[in-house]
Amino acid sequence: MTQRTRSTGAERTDIDLALFGALGDLSQRKLFPALYQLDREGLLHDDTRVLGLARQDISATDFRDRVEAALKTRVKADELDAKVVKRFLARLSFVTVDFTAADGYSAIREWREGAKGSRPLVVYLAVGASLYGDICRHLQGSGSLDEQSRVVVEKPIGYDLESSKSINDAVGDVFPESRVYRIDHYLGKETVQNLIALRFANPLFGTQWNQNHISHVEITVAEKVGIEGRWGYFDNAGQLRDMVQNHLLQLVCLIAMDPPANLDADAIRDEKVKVLKALKPFTDDMLGRDVVRGQYTAGTTDGAGVPGYLDEEGANTQSHTETFVAMKTEVSNWRWAGVPFYLRTGKRMPEKLSQIVIHFRQQPHYIFDPDQRSLAANKLIIRLQPEEGIRLEVLTKDSGLDKGMRLRRGPLHLDFNSAFPKARIPDAYERLLLEVMKGQQYLFVRRDEVEHAWQWCDALIGAWEDRDEPPRRYPAGSWGPVASIAMITQDGRSWYEDY
Ligand code: BG6
Repeated sequence: MTQRTRSTGAERTDIDLALFGALGDLSQRKLFPALYQLDREGLLHDDTRVLGLARQDISATDFRDRVEAALKTRVKADELDAKVVKRFLARLSFVTVDFTAADGYSAIREWREGAKGSRPLVVYLAVGASLYGDICRHLQGSGSLDEQSRVVVEKPIGYDLESSKSINDAVGDVFPESRVYRIDHYLGKETVQNLIALRFANPLFGTQWNQNHISHVEITVAEKVGIEGRWGYFDNAGQLRDMVQNHLLQLVCLIAMDPPANLDADAIRDEKVKVLKALKPFTDDMLGRDVVRGQYTAGTTDGAGVPGYLDEEGANTQSHTETFVAMKTEVSNWRWAGVPFYLRTGKRMPEKLSQIVIHFRQQPHYIFDPDQRSLAANKLIIRLQPEEGIRLEVLTKDSGLDKGMRLRRGPLHLDFNSAFPKARIPDAYERLLLEVMKGQQYLFVRRDEVEHAWQWCDALIGAWEDRDEPPRRYPAGSWGPVASIAMITQDGRSWYEDY
């Protein structure tokens, strides 16, 4: 059932959303605020309803109170509209369910029976992946699903290739792939989608986007925060599984993929899979040279002292888990052969910063001041956060009579916040929830993507385990172990720091 939106005339699809883990961190911090924003923007159908499911025994009124409190904390005051909050809360119901026991699931079927007309059920599993199989089976057993039902699952999908296969099998026994939406929230970020527009709508970049014109690519995803009370989860994962296997590899895919034939989900995802298959595996001799694992020690964040990873609450003081990883990898195909991709990501870095830097090659023949030679290459900087923007660094003549033909590096700069001051940049989850409602899968990760990404990471993790070396230390509030700087300087390059 569809309806025109209040503001844009676009179509809104009517769905019922069953949200498992409705009192959890993800739901309270991200999903309810995102749903509220969709409602505020007029993008939720009037009849759309949300059923919260959690193990805690609370009343529907207490549940709505909690959601309201979450909105008050998470949504900016000037975006909280009392009328919309009221309308939004009225969409919510709640049931207490033991996710592993079949008997509680009849509540979902009964809730569905109260729906107006026939509309798809979207099941959002904001719970640990170990529960996905049970929940899907019980949903099916209780007769709550039909041919239109969709499921949304969150990362991490498993711990390695084998565990991800068994999770995907369990979900796949109930939902066909065309109705499975695997979230990687980086794909919902505005600038990440802009990468697709930038690459495939601008012939200027389209023709230059290969090893003839690009010398190397850098991706930095730095976080200021530490483990944030998630030591138990994080210590079993580490930064490679937590960030590289999904977010960074998805960015690599979008940068490196060939143009898809169209914007259909499978056309895009087929191209991404080709990139994952072409990722160069790490050999033993590359491990010492091209990969750096780090773990933060005590240091400072925003001027205040913070504990080291091994001193965090609940820590196993012998842990070798990495909180930082830097690596040099390559996409071994015609387009990218010989172009290093330098990736780095870590917790407790000096700032929250996610950016991609495309370094173009220098001119084949250089005619300006020899001492300015290092300036002489264009860079395209794609900033995901904190502020979204795209900047192309170009060289122009420095102005002034005394400057002769001295060069100056300057930006052609598109800062989304100042270029489109009225446009609110939506949170990644708003975009992703909207796409699920519309039944569009192009921003979601297909099963084979997850599995190829695991395959590549598993080989690296296996090699680390064989070596059993402790990670290198770096003080909280620094840019990671010194070795990660040496890793790139050994190639005569440096991490881009100038924005
Ligand atoms: C999550 C990781 O997927 O991404 C977290 O599990 C990490 O450890 C988070 O903090 C980072 O997301 P963002 O959008 O803040 O860069």
